[in-house]
Amino acid sequence: MTYIKETYVDSNQQHLFEHFDDLTDVEQTELLNNLKVISDRISPHKLVEDCQNAIALSETNKHSTSVISSLPESSYYSIIGNKKEEEEYRKLGLEAISKGEVAVILMAGGQGTRLGSSQPKGCYDIGLPSHKSLFQIQAEKILRLQQLTGSKHDIPWYIMTSKPTRQTTEQYFKDNSYFNLKKSQITFFNQGTLPAFDLNGEKLYLGSKTELVESPDGNGGLYRAMVENNLLEDFHKKNIKHVYMYCVDNVLSKVADPVFIGFAIKYNFKLATKAVRKRDAAESVGIIATKDGKPCVIEYSEISQELSEAIDETGLLKLRAANIVNHYYSVELFDQQLTNWCDNMVYHIAKKKIPYFDPKTGKISKPTEPNGIKLEQFIFDVFPSVNIKDFGCLEVERSHEFAPLKNASGSANDNPETSRTAYMNLGTSWLKDSGADVKDNVLVEVSGTLSYSGENLQQYRGQIFDINDTILE
Ligand code: UTP
Repeated sequence: MTYIKETYVDSNQQHLFEHFDDLTDVEQTELLNNLKVISDRISPHKLVEDCQNAIALSETNKHSTSVISSLPESSYYSIIGNKKEEEEYRKLGLEAISKGEVAVILMAGGQGTRLGSSQPKGCYDIGLPSHKSLFQIQAEKILRLQQLTGSKHDIPWYIMTSKPTRQTTEQYFKDNSYFNLKKSQITFFNQGTLPAFDLNGEKLYLGSKTELVESPDGNGGLYRAMVENNLLEDFHKKNIKHVYMYCVDNVLSKVADPVFIGFAIKYNFKLATKAVRKRDAAESVGIIATKDGKPCVIEYSEISQELSEAIDETGLLKLRAANIVNHYYSVELFDQQLTNWCDNMVYHIAKKKIPYFDPKTGKISKPTEPNGIKLEQFIFDVFPSVNIKDFGCLEVERSHEFAPLKNASGSANDNPETSRTAYMNLGTSWLKDSGADVKDNVLVEVSGTLSYSGENLQQYRGQIFDINDTILE
C-alpha cells in the first residue's frame, strides 16, 4: 500500500500524511484504502489538473467575447395564453405516456447546504397542511398521471442520489411504502463524488483522520452516472423514448409533464427545456439563449447590462428565458451523445465553506468564510453540442411551474414559506377556475392524487371554502 502514499505525495499531497504515524494500524489502513478508492477512479495528478483547468475556465468566462443572442423563433415557444397549443401538446404527451414510452429522472443528489436540513431535500416538509414531503408530492403526481392515462404501463422513476443522500432517501421511500407506487418502477442510482480543494486548487482536504472531504460532482454528474448505472440499456429494454428530467427542490414541477413531452414530440426536438419569464432585467438567473449560434445557458454575470435590458418588438425582455433546470431528452439523443458528453464535460469551481480535519489539532475546523473549492459539472454544459434545429424551449407560467426550495426558513426568498404559498395558491386557483367559491384569504391544499394540473375538480363547483388550510384528497 505504500505506493498509494507515493501517488499522493508525488502530486504534492504530503500534508494528508502529517498525522500518519499517530494513527493506529487500523486507521492507517483505512486512510490508505479510502485514498485508493479515489485514486483508482481518478489519479491525484489528474484531480489537481482538473481543478487548475476549472479555475482557468472561470477566468476565461469573465472575458468571453462570444456573441450572445436570444433563441431563434423556431426554438422558442410559449404556452402562456396559448391554450390550444397546450392541449395539442398534452394529447401527444399523454399518448406517449400511455404507450409506456416516457421515463422520469429526478436529480436528488445535492446536499442542500443552503437549506440546512439534516435530511435529503426531498424528505423536507414545506409546511403544507398535510405535511407531505417533496418526494411524496412528486410521487403522487406520477400516480395521478398513471390514473389519467389508465395505461397498463407504469412510469419508471429514476432517482439520482449521491453518497450523502442515498441511504436516507432509499430508507425514506421504503418506510413510506413507496408512496403507493410500485417498488419495481423506482430505480435509485448514485452520482459520483469528488474531493474538495483549498482555494488555490492545490491541496486536498481531509474530512476526518481517515477520509478526504468529498462532495457530489454537480448536477452534470448525471450523465456519467447514467453510463455507470446502465440507464440507457434499461431505457431500451423498456422501450422508453422520452425522458423528463427535473430537480427535487421545485414543489411545482409537473413530473412527467405531458404538455412538455408532447411539445418536444410535435417539433421533433431531441433536447428541450422549460423556461419561465425572467422577472426583470436584474434577476440573477441563468438564461437560455444562444452563444455563437449554439444553444446554451448563460449565467447572468456573463451578460452585459445593455443586453440584459434589451426589449424585443413585443415589449418583453429579449433575454427572458430563465432556466428552471427542467429538461426533456429523446433517448435517441442519449444514444448519439451520452459517451461524448461524459468524455468532454468540464468542471466548474464553487467556492464553499468546507469543514476539514486539522491533523495539527486533531479536530474538525469549521470556517466562517469560504476556504475551499468544490468541483462541479453543470447539466446544461451539453446544450451547445445539440444542433439548434433539434433544440426547443417552452416558456411556461412561473406561478404554475416554478417555486424552488433553496434557502432556510425565514430567509429572503426561495424558502419553505415561498414554496408552500406557491403550492397552495396554485391549488386554490384551480378550485376557483372550477367554479368553487373560495373566500378571500382562504387557501386550500389540492392533493396531487386528486388533480395533476387543475382537472377533476368540477365536483366542487358552487361549494364554499371558508376555512383556511382545508385539504382536498
Ligand atoms: P442546487 O445546485 O441548488 O444544490 O441543486 P442543492 O444541493 O440543492 O443546494 P445547495 O447548493 O447545497 O444549497 C439543484 C438540483 O440539482 C440537484 C439537487 O439535488 C437539486 O435537485 N443536484 C445538485 C444533484 O442532484 N447533484 C449535485 O451534485 C448537485
